[in-house]
Amino acid sequence: MNYPELHINEEKCVKCGLCVNDCIVHCLEQNEETKIPQFKKYKEGTCIKCQHCLAICPTGALSIWGKNPENSEQINQINSDELLNLIKSRRSIRAYKPENLDKDRLSKLKDMLKWAPTGVNFHKLHFSFIDDKEVLDDIRTNVTPRLIKFLDNTVVQTTMGHFAELKKPLENGQDVIFRGAPHMVVVSTPTNAPCHNIDPIIALSYFELYAQSLGVGTVWCGFADLCFRIFPDLCSYIGVPDGYKVSYAMLFGLPNVKYSRTTQPEDFEITSVPLGGLRKSNLFGNVKQFVKNFIR
Ligand SMILES: Cc1cc2nc3c(=O)[nH]c(=O)nc-3n(C[C@H](O)[C@H](O)[C@H](O)COP(=O)(O)O)c2cc1C
Repeated sequence: MNYPELHINEEKCVKCGLCVNDCIVHCLEQNEETKIPQFKKYKEGTCIKCQHCLAICPTGALSIWGKNPENSEQINQINSDELLNLIKSRRSIRAYKPENLDKDRLSKLKDMLKWAPTGVNFHKLHFSFIDDKEVLDDIRTNVTPRLIKFLDNTVVQTTMGHFAELKKPLENGQDVIFRGAPHMVVVSTPTNAPCHNIDPIIALSYFELYAQSLGVGTVWCGFADLCFRIFPDLCSYIGVPDGYKVSYAMLFGLPNVKYSRTTQPEDFEITSVPLGGLRKSNLFGNVKQFVKNFIR
């Protein structure tokens, strides 16, 4: 097992105990005499590398896992109205300029991904980046005829209604899968990741909004996701590591369309939960309901 290295700059440490209190796995304690933080005996191995201790220290006295506070960034207060406007003005882009994105924006987008949270701080997502439009063109050229053949199958036509409808436009040369985008990012996760269903979606949601702020258009690509499941050789082509499973894909590039205003979506159903409802529940009823749902 990999043990964390913890270094405390004793001149800077104000012995406030914030690092100890904020540790989710309670592996830190203040030394009884000096009050300097240290690992609890035999608890080093439980550290999940979240670095909350490094982030919370008011004086920058704590380094862990070789990460020094001097290399962290300042925390700025952002304008919430601007963030909300960014969220409201994001659109799925299905018309792209043909050229590759510049290297600067590509590298910013890749670098941002490591800040997406993962369950239990597992942090082992794999991102396959199609950096060059020629690679995505190659995938398009390879996949489209195979997909048309696959969609010819009557079982597919009867069981995968929505997907089967793609056959005609694909035959007519419409790129209804990859939307003419120059780039794609595909996220995969180890099958044993604690939150393998949700981590990739969070990462792509962060990616999408940050891309929008850089003037880069994106669209979730549910159909590409299906293609990876139908044609496993595609997974090897994009370098999905052994033991990893493709989760989702997102297309991106410079938009060739400009939206002048936000949309006006219908409200989701939101209810405020009243106090006291749980007091009426009984364990027998809960078990009965659980079994009923399970059988169904
Ligand atoms: C999980 C998910 C999968 C999607 N898959 C596709 C897709 O395969 N192709 C596509 O053109 N749009 C896809 N979309 C985009 C939705 O169709 C889009 O969000 C919806 O039309 C509303 O448009 P907006 O995103 O501009 O608000 C997907 C969206 C999500 C969230």
